[in-house]
Amino acid sequence: MTADWAGLKFSPLVWASAFETGDPEIDEEHQELLCDLNDLSELLALGQEWSLVVDKSQRLRDKCFEHFQDEEVVLEEAAYEGLECHKIEHRVIEQQLDGILSFIASVALPSRAATEAVLLLRSILVNHFFRYDISYKKHLSRSRGQKRGGADGSESPRRQRGR
Ligand SMILES: [Fe+2]
Ligand SMILES: [Fe+2]
Repeated sequence: MTADWAGLKFSPLVWASAFETGDPEIDEEHQELLCDLNDLSELLALGQEWSLVVDKSQRLRDKCFEHFQDEEVVLEEAAYEGLECHKIEHRVIEQQLDGILSFIASVALPSRAATEAVLLLRSILVNHFFRYDISYKKHLSRSRGQKRGGADGSESPRRQRGR
């Protein structure tokens, strides 16, 4: 039986150079998250089992939390002046993701409201990764330009934890 949310149409998100932040590891994580968002959209469009949609959303939530930590390390190392605001934005999104996850996981049969909650999760993340995050791009490129040639070779906490 086809689920009643099947047939939703999504244009796949396509990576563009305009999304690059200037940090190769952050860009790689953003690209992975973009693929995950496309996979989530496909599960919805194909009307797959609701449990698969919830599992994928949960894994996406976990990866986002980890990504936020990685990004904050990069911005701290670069002495980004907007870091505190950016952290607040991350904490707000974490609360939103947890709220959405607890709602969609509590629904036995997927409803329109639950489907819309997944779409909201998708749009929150697209907006953050590909609009809000771009705001530190200029700072990173300036700070990397200044540091070039003066690096002390020490490892960042992110790299130390094996990512
Ligand atoms: Fe990010
Ligand atoms: Fe961010």
